[in-house]
Amino acid sequence: MAVQSSILLDGKQLAQQMQGALAQKIRHLLPQVGRPPGLAVLMVGDNPASAAYVRNKERACERVGMVSFGHHFPADVSQAELAAVIRQLNQDDRVDGILVQLPLPKHLDAEALLYEILPDKDVDGLHPANLGRLVRKEPGLKSCTPAGVMQLLASYGLDPQGKHAVVVGRSILVGKPLALMLLDANATVTMAHSKTPDLKATALNADILVAAVGQPQIITADMVKPGAIVIDVGINRILDSMGKAHLVGDVDFERVKSVASHITPVPGGVGAMTVAMLLENATWSYCQRCKASYNE
Ligand code: GUN
Repeated sequence: MAVQSSILLDGKQLAQQMQGALAQKIRHLLPQVGRPPGLAVLMVGDNPASAAYVRNKERACERVGMVSFGHHFPADVSQAELAAVIRQLNQDDRVDGILVQLPLPKHLDAEALLYEILPDKDVDGLHPANLGRLVRKEPGLKSCTPAGVMQLLASYGLDPQGKHAVVVGRSILVGKPLALMLLDANATVTMAHSKTPDLKATALNADILVAAVGQPQIITADMVKPGAIVIDVGINRILDSMGKAHLVGDVDFERVKSVASHITPVPGGVGAMTVAMLLENATWSYCQRCKASYNE
């Protein structure tokens, strides 16, 4: 009997479509507002993964007609200097969105810096005011990766209502906000994490299984209910036996794809959606700040 293979949830393609629509929206808004949307990206040090993400974000910005203001600091930059730059960007009318690429070197307090960003320019949705709005179901800037997962599900007609979603990982960047978004979409949500006693038994209950742990291939085929939707948020760099670097997710894709009904690839799944949602957030913020209509 031929092994069934799941449907690929193509985040790359959806992200491209979204960026095309955003480019059109920005072209349309430009004469009305008199300036393009602006995004400031703060990066510290030279972590190669962070540098690659930042490059992606800056290129995507330019593709849709946004201006990117890159601020790259040496690894030993002080907390005070970064805070001062954020305060300056808060006041800069050309800047609609500010993000600090994470993780930061150990001597810096990332949380204190996130608190410095004006909530209305917090395009990563990580300021406590925006996380509070999410808990309260009020409009606001939403964390990009979880919002990207929800958009990807919606674009394939996969409605979480009535489904049991299991989110593995409880980070503030992904697991916690995504659990809230799935809950608001009427899923029954379980959060699993490193202290969950029987991860396999919990995962096997999932109609929607989200892996957001940051451990290569921790979700194996025997942990997936046949027909489940599997969302892989992990992006892990591993070396093969020849010493060559590869990107793999938190899911053992090759084996899980014959058990799941739908699955996201790595790369080309959730990661591409994060960038698209960041651009959406920056455009939303631009419209709010310039009193232009986002949905025209
Ligand atoms: N590092 C890994 N993912 C992200 C993200 O979505 N935003 C920021 N600021 N840093 C990250």
